[in-house]
Amino acid sequence: MLYADRIRHQIQVLGNVPEPSSDAIAHSEKLYEHLKQQLSNHPLPFHDVMEQLLHAPGLGYYSAGAHKIGAAGDFVTAPEISSFFGFALAQQCLQVLKETGGSILEFGAGLGTLAKDILLQLEVDNCLPDNYFIVEISADLRQRQQVRLKEEIPHLYSKISWLEQLPVEGFGGVILANEVIDAMPIHLFENTADGVKDLQVIIEDDGELELDVSSYLSPTLEEWLSRDEISRLSFSQGYRSEVNLAMESWIASLAKCLNKGLILLVDYGYPRHEYYLPERTEGTLNCHYRHHSHDKVLLLAGLQDITAHVDFTAIAESASDAQLSVSGYTNQASFLSGCGILQMAEQAADNDLDTQMRLAQQIRTLIMPDEMGEVFKVIALTKELPIDVSEHLIGFAFSDLRHQL
Ligand SMILES: C[S@@+](CC[C@H](N)C(=O)[O-])C[C@H]1O[C@@H](n2cnc3c(N)ncnc32)[C@H](O)[C@@H]1O
Repeated sequence: MLYADRIRHQIQVLGNVPEPSSDAIAHSEKLYEHLKQQLSNHPLPFHDVMEQLLHAPGLGYYSAGAHKIGAAGDFVTAPEISSFFGFALAQQCLQVLKETGGSILEFGAGLGTLAKDILLQLEVDNCLPDNYFIVEISADLRQRQQVRLKEEIPHLYSKISWLEQLPVEGFGGVILANEVIDAMPIHLFENTADGVKDLQVIIEDDGELELDVSSYLSPTLEEWLSRDEISRLSFSQGYRSEVNLAMESWIASLAKCLNKGLILLVDYGYPRHEYYLPERTEGTLNCHYRHHSHDKVLLLAGLQDITAHVDFTAIAESASDAQLSVSGYTNQASFLSGCGILQMAEQAADNDLDTQMRLAQQIRTLIMPDEMGEVFKVIALTKELPIDVSEHLIGFAFSDLRHQL
């Protein structure tokens, strides 16, 4: 079968979604062939396939050149919905930077919009950081960030630099990541009559990639399942879910790098008791293709984003293990309200009705519970901050849900 026909068939399976361009199909074919070659020898753990689908050098969804974020891409993130997201986050940065001085470091900066808005707001507040560092795994997005930030904030461009990796230690200030953890490859499992097993990927005779329940439990998943807090969970037969085991060492590396300050993580997810609810029998794995969401993770290789929700209890546990304090946890609506988003937007709208309506619509998307307000959460991890700052972070003034973790 021609690869273009395979993709056309996949598009039909997904229903009413736009067809990729011939360039996109050619790109997808290279990634498919790369995976097919490996799968012809033996199945691969789902984790390894997800890693390659997203990040295989030059081939994966994030590594290659297609539009990803925004109206012309596959999904929209909060910084792309409204600059007031960044302006509000800047208020939280401001409170901490006044105490610590130092810099901001953003992981996975997408199109660079959050960096731009935070820097512009901190400039207004007369509290620019020493540096704004960006750690970005995608060469394509890094280049887009550089072009855009140079063009749109030339006077602040000298503050921004891109790091290949985290500074080893000694960082003071604020570390940020919006919708980065959800893009990390996860381990997928199913509880079978024979106990929990890893899910793997196989290639069928017709060349389609398929999920398959393996006959083994990998040592990494076995170790995770044996932990006290996890062994208390019970999964019904057929229950399928996932766990992000990379997050733990990622938090540890942030903790090691941070000398003094705040780590602020924003993403969609739940505390663990909600994440592994008995009725959530299919986990949270989800794909985004041209603003359509679906759960067919092995279709459209390299042309769609693949994400999983975040277990915020796991973040809190990893943080405590790494000697960070969990200083706040709440939903995005409460966090942005605590940072004063409504007052900032009101002031900006002035008396202009059109602007008022446009901003009201943006803010509604960010904070309404049926949009991004409830499912997106914000967690604050701190180190060496005075208690009157770490326990009174403005983003958590309206609601602090740490008891749920
Ligand atoms: C869903 S996008 C979010 C982008 C941006 N933060 C926003 O809110 O628009 C995920 C971002 O994280 C980056 N990313 C994923 N894994 C990463 C990692 N391990 N290190 C650094 N960046 C990563 C991606 O390249 C992309 O920029």
